[in-house]
Formats: sequence, structure tokens, C-alpha cells
Amino acid sequence: MPGLVDTHIHASQYSYAGTALDLPLLQWLTTYTFPVESQYTDLEFARRVYTQVVKRTLRNGTTTACYFATIHTDASLLLAQIANDFGQRALVGKVCMDRNGALEHYKEGTQESLDETSRFIRELLKRKYLLVKPVMTPRFAVSCSGELLLKLSEIAKNNNLHIQSHISETKEEVKLVKQLFPDLETYTDVYNEHNLLTDKTIMAHGCHLSDKELELFHKKGTSLAHCPNSNISYVHGSIYPYQTFAQHTATALAYGSDLSSIYLSVCLCLNAYYVETTYNVEMQWLCSGLLDVHKVLSHKVKLGLGTDVAGGYSASMLDAVRRARDTSKALTIMDPTRVPLTFEETFRLATLGGSQALSMDGQTGNFEVGKDFDALRVNVAVPDGPIDLVQYDGPKILLEKFLNMGDDRNILEVYVAGRKVVPIE
Ligand code: GUN
Ligand code: FE
Repeated sequence: MPGLVDTHIHASQYSYAGTALDLPLLQWLTTYTFPVESQYTDLEFARRVYTQVVKRTLRNGTTTACYFATIHTDASLLLAQIANDFGQRALVGKVCMDRNGALEHYKEGTQESLDETSRFIRELLKRKYLLVKPVMTPRFAVSCSGELLLKLSEIAKNNNLHIQSHISETKEEVKLVKQLFPDLETYTDVYNEHNLLTDKTIMAHGCHLSDKELELFHKKGTSLAHCPNSNISYVHGSIYPYQTFAQHTATALAYGSDLSSIYLSVCLCLNAYYVETTYNVEMQWLCSGLLDVHKVLSHKVKLGLGTDVAGGYSASMLDAVRRARDTSKALTIMDPTRVPLTFEETFRLATLGGSQALSMDGQTGNFEVGKDFDALRVNVAVPDGPIDLVQYDGPKILLEKFLNMGDDRNILEVYVAGRKVVPIE
């Protein structure tokens, strides 16, 4: 089958994937994400994590990955080198952020961000990797000033680069962006006014985009990365900080309290208070949102799937395929007139859809004559694998079985541009 395309993954967050999912987005960023990302001044740490994430995603059949790294140029270049060495097709982004970093040591000055981004692009292009390219990566409108957004779009244009960011992931974030850019009507307008919506732009999430915003996406040829695991992963926020405190203390007590868990709940309480007062938003008892894929497709907006590690806990695109169907079924439960996604549709999103979303469908996404050979050799009934019996037969049934029940044990070989990259030597 064609290779899987992960249109949105934070390589730098892989070390804590599967944990730290107990806070809503803005608190999650300041409590867990920024402290970890600030460790990438350490190139040995970077090498360890980046090697693991590239190997893990390749083994799980990700032939193309669109990566966020961190604000650090040298570590981001290292990620590009590692992807190239292992033979993965990749877009790699040095993250840009010049405000609301919350931790003073995890943000850049505006000029510093521009200079380092230029250095990152220059260095990466100089290496002439065949399959690894830079992608302009303003983290999201909350952490970038208008000046930075505008100047980054100029650099992207001058170098004909892809662009990636986040949009409309949670309702609090949407509210906050409105406060930060009071003159602009919508979140989509913020990126559009700063010339960041192009036909090589991919925005993650978009759970709360209006029809009007989706129309603008269509007009600009801009894509969305649907990250279903992430969208249903972050859990209990609270309306008031003391609720966060109460929740965490209760959890600590339930699991046999010790002083460190009580200490953690005090910290989280203070952090919630800090985020709510600095950002002036109310944290809500909600997951991020459920993206209505059929609505997006009805606007003819290009759409791929993403794992969004570590907001999503799995680095496997097979998980993204399953969660995308779960999300669409949840929407059908809420409104039975909605039709859930079929497995054929999610298969398409994970392959050709992702390739289109990254503007690579001239080269990848299926087995049309003339395209590069990005492929998986799958054995559904591998001994000691997760699938024991196949009652019904036929290629479509086998594909369905693999997408729903398979894992990396079923993926015997992975090819990128005709080169065998799994098994990894
Ligand atoms: N929005 C801004 N930064 C991030 C991030 O690292 N992960 C997710 N899921 N959303 C974000
Ligand atoms: Fe993300």
C-alpha cells in the first residue's frame, strides 16, 4: 500500500508522549511542553529523542512527516540530518515564537527569531538533502507578534517554502487570539492579513473554524491537518483555578498521596491561576474539539491526518486513522443526520489526502505512474502479530483488517523514493 503521511507531529515532544495529558492546551503548553522544549540546547538529548522518533515513525509506516522541532536552530538541523540519514521524506520546522512564551527562557527576540530562521533555512538548503526540506514554522498566533508573522511570511515567499502553524484548536485559544489581534475579525484573518495563507501552508486542527473561514482556506489553497487523538486527549481543565487544585489533590489522595503529588497540585493550581490571569481566559472543562471532516471536505479544503505528538499520545498513523473514525462517529452520535467516515475515506486521508495537503501529490500519495515509490509491504497474517484470523477475504477486507487491528509487526518493509528504509539497518 502507499506510504502513510503524518502532516503534523512535534518531534521534540516525543519523550513525554503518552503522559501529561491532564491539562487543557494553554496550561499544557506552559506546564509541560515549554520546559521540555527548552532542553533542546542540549544536542545529545536532541540526538537521542530525534533518532527515536524518526525510527519509530518509519517502523509504523510514516514515509512522509511534517515536523515541528523547537526554537533551537542547531537541534532543528540535527532533526533534518537524522531524517535524511534514515531516509524519511520530511519537512522540518524550526519553531518561531517571540511572545507569551510564559517561561522567559523559552522564547526568542523578534530579530533573533528572524535571524535564526534565516540561518536554519540557509544551512538546510545548503546541504541539498533530496527528501528533507525546511518549513516556515510560526508556532501559533498566540506566541508570535504581528511583526514576526509578517516578516516570516516574507522569508517564506522569498524561498518558496512550505508554512505550518496551529489554528482554532480550542475555544480558549480562539478567544485569546481575538484579544491579541482586536482589529481582525477571525483567527483565519490573523494569518491571512500576515500573508501566511498560501497553497503551501498547512494549519493543524481547525476544530472551531466557521464556514466563512473554511471558504478563505479554499480560496487560498491552504490545507488542514486533522489531529484527532490530540483533539480528544487533553482533559480536565477547570473553570476556576481552585477546581484544578481540588481535582489534582483528589487524584493524589486516590492514588495514595505523598508530599510530591500534593506539591504538584499546588503548582498546577498556581499555574492555572497564572495562565487565567495573564491570558485573561477561563479554562474550561472540555477537550479541544471535534473536527467535522465532511464539512471541511465540502468546502474543498485539502485535508490530511496528523498524530500531533505529544498532544496526541501515539506516533502511529494507524492510530490517527482509527481516531479520525472515532471522532466522526462521535459527531454522528451527537447528530444522527451526519454520516461517519468510512475506512476507505480515512485510508485516503492518511495517504493521498496527506500528500495533497503537503502539496506533494505530484510526487507521492499513491502508485500513479511517474510518482516516487513510497510504499509499505504489509502482511496482515504475520505470525505472532496482532491479527489471528481472517474470516472474509479480498484485498479491501485485508486493508480494513490491517487499518483497524494492525501495527508495526505487520509492516514488513517500508520504501521511500524506492529506497528500502525498514527494516532499519
Ligand atoms: N498550539 C501551539 N503549540 C502547540 C503544541 O505544541 N501542540 C499543540 N497540540 N497545539 C499547540
Ligand atoms: Fe501541534
